[in-house]
Amino acid sequence: MLPELDFRNLAFRRDPHEEYAKAREKGALAKAKGLDAYVVVSHAECESLLKDPRISLDHFSGAGFSADHPMQRYFQMRDGLMLFANSPRHEDLRNPARSAMSSRLIRRYEESIRELAQEAIRKMKQKLVTSESVDFVREISVPFVSAVICKVVGMPAQDHSLLAGMTQKVADGLDPFGASHDLAQAGEGYVEFQDYMREQLALGCWTQEANEFADSFLGDLAQCPHMLGDFKSSADLISTTVMLLSAGHLTTNHSLSLSVRSLLTDSSQQNVLKDGTITPHLVEELFRYHTPAQITRRRVTQEVEVAGNVLQPGQALWLSLVSANRDENVFSNPQELDFSRKKNPHLAFGGGQHFCLGVHLARLQLRVFLEELAGQFPKLRVEDSVDDHNLVFRGLKSLRLSLT
Ligand code: HEM
Repeated sequence: MLPELDFRNLAFRRDPHEEYAKAREKGALAKAKGLDAYVVVSHAECESLLKDPRISLDHFSGAGFSADHPMQRYFQMRDGLMLFANSPRHEDLRNPARSAMSSRLIRRYEESIRELAQEAIRKMKQKLVTSESVDFVREISVPFVSAVICKVVGMPAQDHSLLAGMTQKVADGLDPFGASHDLAQAGEGYVEFQDYMREQLALGCWTQEANEFADSFLGDLAQCPHMLGDFKSSADLISTTVMLLSAGHLTTNHSLSLSVRSLLTDSSQQNVLKDGTITPHLVEELFRYHTPAQITRRRVTQEVEVAGNVLQPGQALWLSLVSANRDENVFSNPQELDFSRKKNPHLAFGGGQHFCLGVHLARLQLRVFLEELAGQFPKLRVEDSVDDHNLVFRGLKSLRLSLT
């Protein structure tokens, strides 16, 4: 009998690690209690299924809803996004964006990201002096990551809070158990996003030469119009920018907020923010330990055997990246944040054809922000924090910080 994991139980969602460890002792596969979904909990199986063409990201089906049903909006929007597309449509959307997100091109943003981090930390200092505390998530992290992604894609900086709001709508709608569960609302979020992008592209503000958007994804396209030809249609260009803007917000905010909380509360790590050096190993371990995109949902499209169980087409399959990243068969002391860990084959950015396109940006911005934060607040402490219980994402709703 396969172990059962109760995703409706808030205690499990807040801290799933013990239950996942018990499930891994019994094997690679578990069942989601009360739901027709299998959960893959081992690193080896998750890694191999991420690359397996017999399972697809198409985890919902729009079939069964009438053409004028509000849910159709959701399915139409979602079908246009690269994350939900299968080959060859997936490559049409991903390939034109790939070089713009390469490690080499992302490095050019380091200086601007550092300036944005310094600005955020100045604001944090001011808040901590003038009021008793600061909500790191709402007041610092969200504006910072939104400003970064606006800069990278080429959107006006003043729109960052608008974009953060649209992203949140989409994310809330992705959680089948969330209080705000409403896929139609997620559809609305996508529509708002697309309308916004259409307007921006029509305004053409990013096509002006030597403007503030010159060094950006859209600025590059404007300067090399032949690159635009790589997109099959303007709808594809819009959906790719929407994808970058939305995927680049939430996960990076979660990883930054969770990292700051851990570095302030984990007794063995408190020196890192006092006088520590922020190494790439440390950043990678923070991604493994927190795994902000904790579950990715798939559907079986051709019969497949997983850990001795034969799964039929149509079967829902949840790959638990958060469990894979604590697998004791791959990581020593997996439940510990261990910055001396050198070999770290974590799956926080997924794998296979949908491997995170923003990985270099995510690494750069977490490292730069922590470098700027280190040494600034020797007396910083966590007053309280509220976890976000979204099924797909792990993160914080708030993180209240003050000076002792
Ligand atoms: C800590 C930060 C981040 C984490 C943990 C993360 C995680 C992930 C994961 C796990 C996937 C694969 C999902 C799946 O297979 O179902 C993914 C895909 C993706 N991510 Fe990220 N991501 C992060 C930051 C970013 C950023 C900053 C961007 C963009 C600027 C971005 C853009 C994308 C895109 C476009 C995809 C879809 C790729 C495709 O379908 O080919 N991500 N991400």
